[in-house]
Amino acid sequence: MRRGRLSSVKAAILVESLTGNTWTAAEKTAELLSQERWTITGLSKVREPDLTAIQAADLILVGTWVHGAFVFGQAPWAVNSISNLPALSGKKAAAFCTFALSPGKSLNRLTQAVGDTGAYVIGGLAMNRSKLDEHSEAFAIRLVDALAEA
Ligand SMILES: Cc1cc2nc3c(=O)[nH]c(=O)nc-3n(C[C@H](O)[C@H](O)[C@H](O)COP(=O)(O)O)c2cc1C
Repeated sequence: MRRGRLSSVKAAILVESLTGNTWTAAEKTAELLSQERWTITGLSKVREPDLTAIQAADLILVGTWVHGAFVFGQAPWAVNSISNLPALSGKKAAAFCTFALSPGKSLNRLTQAVGDTGAYVIGGLAMNRSKLDEHSEAFAIRLVDALAEA
């Protein structure tokens, strides 16, 4: 990681994960952001969100995994549960998903769902499950850059 920032960004992370990859990506991203002096207010499940962590955060990261027939019909898992989150207006948000072969349009659909909560979506990334280190770092760098410019 390269860049610093004067004041600490507070981020809450919400994740759906069946076999652990998306949770791992969230933990790796959180670790990298912490090294950049960000405060992670909480890491919780989308379906059991830590509301205190959300309330305390400036930025909400929402991650899930890609479900489909691998080459068609891909969609972000549990996308409907995102609409059950509390209204996130006034917060920034970013989305990420992990996949095996091809994410299709999952990231777009996920980004749309996160935007529908009222959050201002600053970006997102689809991460290949076999490159979680590399892609978590790319995601963290993008987030740090985006918030540094904000
Ligand atoms: C039932 C099922 C369907 C899947 N469909 C797709 C798919 O259509 N495209 C793809 O790239 N990966 C697909 N995957 C792979 C997952 O998206 C990938 O392993 C992901 O990292 C799992 O995240 P998790 O470990 O957080 O549950 C599928 C996995 C499962 C279990």
